[in-house]
Amino acid sequence: MIAHLPDVQLGYDDQGDGVPVLFLHGFPHDRGLWNAQRLSLASEARCIVPDLRGFGQSSTHGPFSVDQYADDAAALLDHLGIAQAVVCGLSMGGYVAMAFWRRHEARVRALVLCDTRAGADSDEARARRDTMIAQARREGAGAIAEAMLPGMVGAETRARRGDVVAGLRAMMSRQPTAGIVGALQALRDRPDSRRTLGTISVPTLVVVGDEDTLTPTSEARAIAEALPPAARVRLEIIAGAGHVPCVERPSATTHALADFLRTLA
Ligand code: MLT
Repeated sequence: MIAHLPDVQLGYDDQGDGVPVLFLHGFPHDRGLWNAQRLSLASEARCIVPDLRGFGQSSTHGPFSVDQYADDAAALLDHLGIAQAVVCGLSMGGYVAMAFWRRHEARVRALVLCDTRAGADSDEARARRDTMIAQARREGAGAIAEAMLPGMVGAETRARRGDVVAGLRAMMSRQPTAGIVGALQALRDRPDSRRTLGTISVPTLVVVGDEDTLTPTSEARAIAEALPPAARVRLEIIAGAGHVPCVERPSATTHALADFLRTLA
């Protein structure tokens, strides 16, 4: 489906009944990243799954920032008449979830932070973003997909799940160059969210693949340790998954989410 919002057009899925869950994909993905969870959780949750601005079926114009992505998602909830949702983001989607908390706290029923980190980019990481922006402009999405793929999945997936690797490669290769460049700028310029963690007062689930090398388990543990008691944090480490457990180990990830959602009932 396509939502025609005042400032942007967003592709999205809206499936199921129950507590609304807003799923936010990472870079350079689209909403297909959450297909398994949308299909499996639809009997107990209303799954709202947008393409972030610049990806999938969404508009490719800026401005691009994690705050803008969060405001776009809030505008989609307005469009759908949803006051509050569980906000679940993976990696870049996690940065957006933390921005969503800062900007729309009253609309957050609970948080799920998957394979993400709270800190901002280092100077070296910012320089790597600029190199990748130049590469995206020069060579397009296919080159970015190849550059990202090694870090995207764990050793187990790489060795045994060629279908998962092929699916991710296809997803990353079909994203618009304008969206990739805009997202890299947004990632490079995102704020440090470490102080945000201390303000979180809703139940929070932290998920990470045990083979994630982009945002390793140490980052997930740092997030869990920084959350205040009010967040009643749960940490789920998904065995045999890298950076995208929702695709690499969909059942284990869905179970972790479903268990968490039941604690909110
Ligand atoms: C992602 O998966 O969203 C990216 O790895 C995030 C990042 O590069 O910081």
